[in-house]
Amino acid sequence: MNIRLFQPSDLDELKRITIEGFEGIAIDQSVETALGILNGHDWRWRKARHVDEDIEANPTGVFIAEEGGIVLGYISTRVDYEGGKGRIPNLAVEQSARGRGIGRRLIEYALEYLRCEGITFVMIETMENNPVGQHLYPSCGFVETCRQIHFARRL
Ligand SMILES: CC(C)(COP(=O)(O)OP(=O)(O)OC[C@H]1O[C@@H](n2cnc3c(N)ncnc32)[C@H](O)[C@@H]1OP(=O)(O)O)[C@@H](O)C(=O)NCCC(=O)NCCS
Repeated sequence: MNIRLFQPSDLDELKRITIEGFEGIAIDQSVETALGILNGHDWRWRKARHVDEDIEANPTGVFIAEEGGIVLGYISTRVDYEGGKGRIPNLAVEQSARGRGIGRRLIEYALEYLRCEGITFVMIETMENNPVGQHLYPSCGFVETCRQIHFARRL
């Protein structure tokens, strides 16, 4: 397994891995469960757009785990140079490749990239019903800072 920079031909795979991986833990899915389908688009459509947003925002900070030319997972980053702040908005590993340390290696790779960019602190978040994130992030050196409650309503 090796980690490399995102290239445009990865896009469809990233969206597929994202939609499969975030089933049950996507905020957009929770909103849809509470309010129903919104504006004719389901949560999968909304979640896939996050990949587009990540690539548009910081194309040189999206990294791919691949093996034999097959995409196994990815991690995205954002950088705020003035504030010294990095963010990891999305991380997903193909279901069949989980538990091999790929998620952890992607985090370490992203942290090293952010370090090289001169970033001084990094934020990442996970859902309360996502036990993997709650285990993995502290074990990668992150400390819990706060919990947030999401609300939504129709207009
Ligand atoms: C989160 C994710 C990227 C991790 O990928 P991965 O390649 O399986 O991660 P790793 O193999 O590096 O490590 C997973 C860690 O979580 C642990 N873990 C796995 N399932 C767990 C569970 N149900 N509860 C607690 N810990 C769990 C593993 O034991 C491992 O910890 P360890 O190294 O201390 O043994 C992957 O599970 C995924 O894509 N999930 C769906 C999308 C997602 O949750 N993204 C993150 C959003 S916050």
